[in-house]
Amino acid sequence: MQFPNYRPRRLRRSETLRAMVRETTLDITDLIYPLFVEFGENVRREVSSMPGVFNISLDQLPAEIDELRSLGIPAVILFGIPDHKDEAGSGAYAEDGIVQQAIRTIKKHDPDFYVITDVCMCEYTSHGHCGALDESGCVMNDVTLELLAQTAVSHAEAGVDMVAPSDMMDGRVAAIRSALDAEGFDQVPIMAYSAKYASAYYGPFREAADSTPAFGDRKQYQMDPANGEEALREVALDIDEGADIVMVKPALAYMDVIRRVKDEFGYPTAAYNVSGEYAMVKAAAGNGWIDEKRVVLETLTGFKRAGADMIITYHAKDAARWLKEGM
Ligand code: PBG
Ligand code: ZN
Repeated sequence: MQFPNYRPRRLRRSETLRAMVRETTLDITDLIYPLFVEFGENVRREVSSMPGVFNISLDQLPAEIDELRSLGIPAVILFGIPDHKDEAGSGAYAEDGIVQQAIRTIKKHDPDFYVITDVCMCEYTSHGHCGALDESGCVMNDVTLELLAQTAVSHAEAGVDMVAPSDMMDGRVAAIRSALDAEGFDQVPIMAYSAKYASAYYGPFREAADSTPAFGDRKQYQMDPANGEEALREVALDIDEGADIVMVKPALAYMDVIRRVKDEFGYPTAAYNVSGEYAMVKAAAGNGWIDEKRVVLETLTGFKRAGADMIITYHAKDAARWLKEGM
């Protein structure tokens, strides 16, 4: 392979040719849309740090699902904003909790629309941490496992299609898998937030989900952004414990981790294009500094090229429209 025999530009001369040799495709069916649901009626409140993303009340769900379906987006991941928070995060596993009601509302409206739920405690605990605390303010791992398992089962009872634990406790995939199986939900897959980093990119999400820790940070359970080898160990653990899909989160600063996870395990791999990544694009686009459509499609294609099979992204609706236009 040597110039002048090999001239890479030869295959770039027309769109037909470029399309013929294109290695990566981005499809609407790769996209999962995050939805923030709360109690009340007629609520449709824009998240100030995430233009175009809204917290919506239960009654708005049918119209929202219709819109997603018409765009061809196959799935949502639900986050709940409860009406009260307590020390134990009881709203996470309440039978009539916000996520449980949201699942039932969607399934009643459109039984075939694919519903994934985030399984964590931080939106429900008064202290905003992802599990139960001991006296010193440290999240207790094994006690939290039971709460998470109970939460996952309550989602399954409400009819969820897939659960996605995001808490980063050790052993949570095994705990959730065995609890689901014991209750007859052996066909409900687990998408594990396996390599989830203690990231500054979650800021806007915490505004939307009202889940900022009241004190401290999440560095005792989420991963150090400096570590790549450890991500492989986390993924290996989750796969051993029964994860069906593994996730890397955030995505943009962790493209190398996505690639390594895909190469090492060959498992279905999800990338979470998180709130701060979305906010940066929206801010730059709002100022006219970048071409939003091209930047978003380039970024999402980059996740696919890095090895992601599916992408959780707040850009999903826009991306779906743009992908449709392009066809
Ligand atoms: C809950 C959870 C978080 C996100 C997804 N699930 C926040 C956090 O861990 O603090 C972040 C998603 C985003 O930033 O878009 N544990
Ligand atoms: Zn959490």
